[in-house]
Amino acid sequence: MAIEATEPDKTAAPPIIDTEDVHLWYGSNEALKGINLTFKEHEITALIGPSGCGKSTYLRTLNRMNDLIPGVTIKGEVKLKGKDIYAPGNDTVSLRKEVGMVFQQPNPFPFSIYDNVTYGLRLGKQHTREQLDEAVETALRQAAVWEEVKDKLHDSALGLSGGQQQRVCIARVLAVKPDVVLLDEPTSALDPISSSQIESMLVALKKDYTIILVTHNMSQASRISDRTAFFLQGHLVEYDDTKTIFLNPHKKETEDYISGRFG
Ligand SMILES: Nc1ncnc2c1ncn2[C@@H]1O[C@H](COP(=O)(O)OP(=O)(O)O)[C@@H](O)[C@H]1O
Ligand SMILES: [Mg+2]
Repeated sequence: MAIEATEPDKTAAPPIIDTEDVHLWYGSNEALKGINLTFKEHEITALIGPSGCGKSTYLRTLNRMNDLIPGVTIKGEVKLKGKDIYAPGNDTVSLRKEVGMVFQQPNPFPFSIYDNVTYGLRLGKQHTREQLDEAVETALRQAAVWEEVKDKLHDSALGLSGGQQQRVCIARVLAVKPDVVLLDEPTSALDPISSSQIESMLVALKKDYTIILVTHNMSQASRISDRTAFFLQGHLVEYDDTKTIFLNPHKKETEDYISGRFG
């Protein structure tokens, strides 16, 4: 029997997060209208769409950050490695270690760089000083900020530039070894050089993490993401390889958006 050589099937990679028919209401305002999306391990997925289309809301459903907002109702299913994260009795603290989050405004705590990066570790089990030192160096290296801060680890993180603060915040998330890192417009408050440092870092990180990135910057999405999901008014309009979305979208709304006709 002849054995045919086939291309490795990219679509065969197991989904790390699978969301099915996710609806979310703020009071009576339905912000997400039935989102089905699957995220693959070791990929960068970009979520794009005009302001108010539900990108941040959807991102927050992936680690239950909307639970903190009063008046929110959520329906549907979000599975992390096959398990429903909304199942009763689920621990959101450990969920948020597995699915970490980085925000638009760098938000370091008013502590030293060292204490920022070890914050999540110190919440968990006891670590020796050596273990903490090693975790700090590894996370700061992964976040591409080690060389800039290694001689001032015990200075306040608030004394750093915005771009350095954001990379320290990313290190703080990485230090607890999450599976998935969610980032909500992480470079939109930063200068172009800092943004480009963070973009290169994210590309390097995907060998160890799955990255889901909300961005209003379409060139950023096309530069660094493997897949792109286009949202509009609470709906997922189109989800495909980033190249297809930007070069050959199937839906007219996607084409209108990426060619700058609205948004
Ligand atoms: N905390 C909130 N309370 C009430 N409504 C909200 C809240 N956050 C977002 N919304 C509404 O949900 C919709 C989607 O918002 P959002 O997810 O922030 O969009 P995007 O991130 O794409 O700009 C908008 O209509 C917005 O006004
Ligand atoms: Mg947003």
